[in-house]
Amino acid sequence: MPDEYATSYQRSLADPQAFWGKVAGGIDWIQPWAAVLDESVGPASRWFSGGVLNTCYNALDRHLAAGRGEQPALICDSAMTGAQRVLTYAQLQEEVAHFACALTQLQVAKGDRVIIYMPMVPEAAVAMLACARIGAIHSVVFGGFAANELATRIDDAKPKVIVAASCGLEPGRVVEYKPLLDDALRQSTHQPDACIILQREQSVAEMSARDHDWQSVVADAEPVDCVPVAATDPLYILYTSGTTGQPKGIVRDNGGHAVALHWSMNAFYGVDAGDVFWAASDVGWVVGHSYIVYGPLLRGCTTVMFEGKPVGTPDAGTYWRVIAEHGVKAMFTAPTAIRAIRREDPDGELLEQYSLDRFETLFVAGERCDPETLTWVQAKLQVPVIDHWWQTETGWPITGNPVGLGAFEIRPGSAGKVMPGWDVQILDEQGAPVDAGQTGAITCRLPLPPGTLPTLWNAEQRFRQAYLERFPGYYQTGDAGYMDDDGYLYVMSRTDDVINVAGHRLSTGAIEEALATHTDVAECAVTGIRDELKGQVPLGFLVLKAGADRAVDEVAQEAISLVRAKIGPVAAFRKALVVKRLPKTRSGKILRRTLRNIADGDEYATPATIDDPAILDEIAETIRQSGIMSQ
Ligand code: COA
Ligand code: AMP
Repeated sequence: MPDEYATSYQRSLADPQAFWGKVAGGIDWIQPWAAVLDESVGPASRWFSGGVLNTCYNALDRHLAAGRGEQPALICDSAMTGAQRVLTYAQLQEEVAHFACALTQLQVAKGDRVIIYMPMVPEAAVAMLACARIGAIHSVVFGGFAANELATRIDDAKPKVIVAASCGLEPGRVVEYKPLLDDALRQSTHQPDACIILQREQSVAEMSARDHDWQSVVADAEPVDCVPVAATDPLYILYTSGTTGQPKGIVRDNGGHAVALHWSMNAFYGVDAGDVFWAASDVGWVVGHSYIVYGPLLRGCTTVMFEGKPVGTPDAGTYWRVIAEHGVKAMFTAPTAIRAIRREDPDGELLEQYSLDRFETLFVAGERCDPETLTWVQAKLQVPVIDHWWQTETGWPITGNPVGLGAFEIRPGSAGKVMPGWDVQILDEQGAPVDAGQTGAITCRLPLPPGTLPTLWNAEQRFRQAYLERFPGYYQTGDAGYMDDDGYLYVMSRTDDVINVAGHRLSTGAIEEALATHTDVAECAVTGIRDELKGQVPLGFLVLKAGADRAVDEVAQEAISLVRAKIGPVAAFRKALVVKRLPKTRSGKILRRTLRNIADGDEYATPATIDDPAILDEIAETIRQSGIMSQ
């Protein structure tokens, strides 16, 4: 049998147009493209220019036409309420078509933005697909972000309508979304024309004149059809963390996205129409967009939407229960979730209660998977556990182990080999390729494959500066690592101020901006330090203003509350230390990496450019005394 991975990889790089042109046959087009790849528009190419399609049609309607109407499309399993709801393709299409009508009745049209601020309820997927149906651009905001973060996104995306739920459910508490939304709208300059609120029985929200109840808007609706959109029209904007507090609005197009995701479900994840796929993530993250909603539905799979946690809802056997109960063939989760399960059930006793006979592969991503976690879960599940690496920007895996094309040996600690469509190069500071085994900046030679970001929303210059200028001709991923002699990639760290907390991407810059608003804080620095469960957690260093005569513990506590209020609980900011000074270079740049090394207890060299070497010992002593590393 020919090596399908090697053949596909070579073809995709030798002739991307022929490769992706053929792959695009998996999608139904209203009008074929004029050019598979259009490089005339700038550094980031446009895929399938001239093509016309509808993503919602490809995710729903065409499966009805193909006789899949009675197949479950969406299985919603809430470990928080104990409720389950299964929607067939026919039922999901009907709900989406009605909600699309409700949006049009509120004057939402092609190109308008709709912000979706919802927990893991089926209506979140319905709202996303309804936007796609009418060509509106959705922007989903993760529920763990605070009102201030939501306000920033409202002002950038300028939505015509916001769709939210009255509340989300976290273990031991009901998260009231509606007051958070109201607070965000008080903070934002832009105001939407209307809000649609899904009332959940756990907390019924108070409505104002601008608010419409979900049930009433759909009660008056008639189903609407799919609107033709250009392949290059935006499907969604998804904000992600960058270096500063202003999040980056990643734009996703319709055509390239549908083509790449439909292909990746089978070529990479090894599933096909009729199979059950479960991505245990949240619709607020890219994993939720690509592999809870769009990828599985484009392929005709059944997708599982889970509300709950890997542990404590009710126990560390929940994930195994969901796999067994719904006949999941392949699952995707973050290594943090596996670490949490292992911590609660180290011998995997809870696993023995379930029959996982239809389960074939576990995929992990979102953060580096440490070899111990990977080997532990592989031994317990007795299925391949595949680490793969990608980003919000790319929308689908850059490296991994493609089950559909033919999986190869798993090397724990590595994120696999480079997928077709990607030309990954490890570059040194000067932009020259490094040898195998040498660490450098991980970059991808342009053009990027379909489905990747064509630009940032309203920020073309920032797009170029953040991704394309550092290494001309390459996309800079912001990750650093090395490739071994056999082409396996090892992703080791970020090269910027992004940290990864429990698989959630956060900006230390944004946390610093929040801390800087504290009246007694003169200066601050935030760095990500190692955490046994969450991979990394943020640690803040605060320098108080001269004359601020305050108890340091009190200020640290206020700083923690401030970050929770401004960024949200998801930042998991629980550690702040007051120090006399911050280590800086003679030109005034804060030495964050040195701070991180000290806090992690790693070796560190005193940088030659430091303004005051004695400060490092002082900080090391403060960290030792705080005991934070033993917590
Ligand atoms: N809405 C509101 N609050 C949310 C939220 C949401 N959607 N998601 C998380 N939060 C809150 C949590 O309640 C928690 O609040 P707390 O400080 O009051 O306890 C805080 O944000 C941190 O949440 P989390 O990171 O989930 O930590 P946890 O301690 O509650 O749970 C794990 C720990 C390991 C169980 C959890 O981090 C986990 O499931 N991780 C896997 C992550 C994942 O799947 N990521 C997918 C990316 S691919
Ligand atoms: P996000 O955009 O939220 O998906 O986060 C993307 C970032 O998470 C990447 O740039 C990496 O820093 C990190 N990441 C994702 N997957 C992996 C992985 N498999 N191994 C190491 N880091 C990863």
